[in-house]
Amino acid sequence: MNTKTNIIDGKAIADIIGNELKAESALFFQKKKIKPHLSVIIVGSDPAALFYVRMIERTCQKVDFEFTKHALPEETTEEGLLSLLKGLNEDEAIHGIIVQTPLPKQINEDHIREAVHPGKDVDCFNPVNMGKLAMGNPDFLPCTPNAVFEILKREKIAVEGKHVVIVGRSSVVGKPLALILLLKQPDANASVTVCHSRTKDLASLCRQGDVVVAAVGVARLVKGNMVKQGAVVIDVGTNEEGGKLVGDVDFEEVSPLASRITPVPGGVGPVTNMMLMKNTLQAAQKKLLS
Ligand SMILES: NC(=O)c1ccc[n+]([C@@H]2O[C@H](COP(=O)([O-])OP(=O)(O)OC[C@H]3O[C@@H](n4cnc5c(N)ncnc54)[C@H](OP(=O)(O)O)[C@@H]3O)[C@@H](O)[C@H]2O)c1
Repeated sequence: MNTKTNIIDGKAIADIIGNELKAESALFFQKKKIKPHLSVIIVGSDPAALFYVRMIERTCQKVDFEFTKHALPEETTEEGLLSLLKGLNEDEAIHGIIVQTPLPKQINEDHIREAVHPGKDVDCFNPVNMGKLAMGNPDFLPCTPNAVFEILKREKIAVEGKHVVIVGRSSVVGKPLALILLLKQPDANASVTVCHSRTKDLASLCRQGDVVVAAVGVARLVKGNMVKQGAVVIDVGTNEEGGKLVGDVDFEEVSPLASRITPVPGGVGPVTNMMLMKNTLQAAQKKLLS
């Protein structure tokens, strides 16, 4: 990891986690003869979705987990997808299931969310798992917000009693991140403000943040005048701009002010897939206890 700058090296963190998971999984295999197995369903041929699935496959290879892909045609019916899910839910050899979004319009995403077995729901897709998180008693933590949490922990950035301002309230990133940081545990216990497109005076709210997390999907939204000196800035955003990947934070303006900052690319992204692997290993280990 680069210690000479304030830049947080997400790739290096992901590599460390990957090595830890590989070792833990090898030990588990030695004892129980079980290898964590992740199954991914993709419907249609959305290029971004295909890219994510390839990344997941590559991450599985890195940590030596089993990976299966079910690629279904665009015209797949909801019944067809539910039937495949039923089979995977019942298959003892499968520990984690992901249904890649977006799904074609004939398939109701809510029905699919509810059909993924909560014990195999490594993406925290099922409302049961989100509900458990909201109650402060989670089984799995959703991968992207957990990547932010993991980065804060690994970089020893304590949030207990601190003010974290999250820009974005999606159910995939902003909202579950707020729930994680509010957990009653010493590595969380933050005071959290969640902002969104209707927030008045976003800049002044962000300036109050000891930690600012941007999860918006608007390139360079968070400017230098929106961050106080010494704040920690975590950029979840991934936006394409002129063929380049850029974050939701104006890195050039904000990095001189921030005590620590994640870049895009190379920040939250690489850690996210490792959180998926962490949940898959946990699902395999938990299954033995159930
Ligand atoms: N690195 C990773 O692993 C990873 C994973 C997932 C997502 N992402 C990236 O993270 C970003 C957010 O993803 P998402 O799925 O959470 O997006 P999303 O579902 O589109 O949600 C965006 C949120 O930002 C808010 N917002 C939009 N414009 C705003 C503005 N001008 N000021 C304040 N708030 C504004 C929206 O407010 P409203 O609720 O009022 O509409 C919404 O809450 C995207 O760039 C995405 O690609 C990265």
